[in-house]
Amino acid sequence: MKTIFSGIQPSGTITLGNYIGAMRQFIDLQDEYECFFCIVDQHAITVPQDRLALRQNTKSLAAMYLAIGIDPARSTLFIQSEVPAHAQAGWMLQCVSYIGELERMTQFKDKSEGKDGVSAGLLTYPPLMAADILLYKTDLVPVGEDQKQHLELTRDLADRFNKKFNDIFTIPEVRIPKVGARVMSLQDPSKKMSKSDPNQKSFISMLDDPKQMVKKIKSAVTDSEGIVKYDKENKPGVSNLLSIYSILSGLTIKEIEDQYQGKGYGDFKSGLAEVVVDHIKPIQERYFTLMESKELDEILDNGALKANHIAGKMLKKMENAMGLGRKRK
Ligand code: AQP
Repeated sequence: MKTIFSGIQPSGTITLGNYIGAMRQFIDLQDEYECFFCIVDQHAITVPQDRLALRQNTKSLAAMYLAIGIDPARSTLFIQSEVPAHAQAGWMLQCVSYIGELERMTQFKDKSEGKDGVSAGLLTYPPLMAADILLYKTDLVPVGEDQKQHLELTRDLADRFNKKFNDIFTIPEVRIPKVGARVMSLQDPSKKMSKSDPNQKSFISMLDDPKQMVKKIKSAVTDSEGIVKYDKENKPGVSNLLSIYSILSGLTIKEIEDQYQGKGYGDFKSGLAEVVVDHIKPIQERYFTLMESKELDEILDNGALKANHIAGKMLKKMENAMGLGRKRK
């Protein structure tokens, strides 16, 4: 069976963007692949986090993975900081990364722009992400479009390591969904929807109550034309809403355009709100049950055990290849 690895940061509550761009794909992939789903809390601390909120978001993300349909009997769900091999391998891969290539990462530029006191971790987080992926001999990484550049770097680092030290890493492929790879902010459709956006109206959180969701969709930025039509260049707001509608309803963009022909944005947004609420409500119900259960800790303990075992083996290979520590049989 081929292997999939995917990580999500517990840097806030999962948005509809994270769900559509990444998580939604995971459910079906479990049938065909050996899957590792990681809550990457060490990535989250590259920007300041509140200690208690981080813990809560970590638990919440674990429950959300299960609520959307991740099956712990088939997939391994674990927390990154509970598998120390990630940080160890991340350090080794930092040492084969060049500062110039890390400075070229657009996410680093976006997150550091105009900020004082940018952490070194924000710059060196892509090699840690590479370590996350490479430790599990990952064949495929399903991500949203924003992570494509980091995946290219992961492939470069794996190749560089293989050539320079020993041929131990599988070079992973990236899998980006055809539709919904980049869900945009509801308030500024030129920006991607992000869970850490300070403007709460810009994203739909998977834990928003239905009233909040309706309100956010009703206040989403569109245009003055009043025609429900997909045109990414000239109607980015409406096109973003159409993509969300299509993905969650299973209808094609054309079918939705036809349905709202001659009707205004008010009707369209009401229809979309209904689709979003209907889709998310059952996920929320499962989520709240899981947050109360003891099962969650057991699943994470088992996940950490399995991940430590597998990652530990690859870490040893990396140390041997680089000459770290003493030679052991
Ligand atoms: N707007 C988006 N549309 C489609 N996919 C998205 N992803 C994130 N935003 C969108 C995908 O979600 C996965 C998890 O992302 P992450 O939490 O590891 O980091 P991120 O990409 O930085 O996500 P956020 O929500 O923007 O977090 P913050 O605000 O903390 O930076 C990835 O597969 C990503 O592609």
